Amino acid sequence: MSEPTAPIGIIGGTGFGRIAELGDAQSIDVETEYGQPSCALRLGELAGTGVAFLARHGSPHRIAPHRVNYRANIAALKSVGVREILAINAVGGIAAWARAGALAIPDQLIDYTHGRLSSFSDHGERAVEHIDFSDPFDAPLRARLLTAANASGVTVHDGGCVAVTEGPRLETRAEIARLRRDGCDLVGMTSMPEAVLAREASLAYASIAVIANPAAGVAEDVIGIHEIELTLAATMQRVLQVIETFLMATCRPR
Ligand code: HPA
Repeated sequence: MSEPTAPIGIIGGTGFGRIAELGDAQSIDVETEYGQPSCALRLGELAGTGVAFLARHGSPHRIAPHRVNYRANIAALKSVGVREILAINAVGGIAAWARAGALAIPDQLIDYTHGRLSSFSDHGERAVEHIDFSDPFDAPLRARLLTAANASGVTVHDGGCVAVTEGPRLETRAEIARLRRDGCDLVGMTSMPEAVLAREASLAYASIAVIANPAAGVAEDVIGIHEIELTLAATMQRVLQVIETFLMATCRPR
C-alpha cells in the first residue's frame, strides 16, 4: 500500500489542537532526521481536500513555544507530501485594529526569539543557504486565504507585522511599548522559526493570526489566561470557516 499523502498542512496552535471535522483521518507517526514532531500527524479530508493536521503544542497541549521541535514539524509535513502550510497562531494585539477576537493574515514579522534551532543547515548536514526572507509569508497563499475569508463572510485584517517573542511568559508593558515603536501590530511566540523553516523547505507558508488578548499595557487590566481561552474558543469556528472555504477552492483530493 502506498504511503498516505496530503498537499495541504495545517498547524494548529493554542486553542486549535484538533479538527473534529477531519473525515476519515489516519494518525501517522513520523520520525524525521531532526527528531519527532510535536505529535502524530492526522491525515484526512476536509472540504474535499487532503489535509495533514499537526498540533504544534502536542496532543494534549504540553509543549511550550520555545520547546517545540519546529524542524521536525516542518520535515514531517513535507515527508507526507505537503506543499502549502496554513499556520494558526494565537497572538496578542498591539495595533488599535487588533482587538481580541479579530483575525489577521499577517504579511511581516520581526524575530525576537533567541536560542531556537532556526535553520535546517546549522549542523553541517546541509550546505548553508542564505534564503530570501524579505516577505516571510507566501504572497499567493495569503491572497488565497484573504479571498476565502471574503467569500465566507469572515472579517479578516489584511496584513500586519508580528513580533515573535521567546515566551512562554507574556511580555512586560515596556516590551510591548518597544515592539509598538518597532512597528509591530501583533505579538506571538510561534511564527518563528516555523515560517523560515517552511521557506527553507520550499513550502509555501501563511498564518491565520487569532488575536486572543490585548498585549501587555494595551488595555488597563492584566491579561487573564481564562479570558484568552474563552476568546480563542469563540474564534475557532470562524477560523475553520475560512480554512474550509480555502480548501473548497483548492480542492485537491488525497
Ligand atoms: N503575547 C505573546 N504571545 C501571545 C499573546 C501575547 O500577549 N497572546 C497570545 N499569544
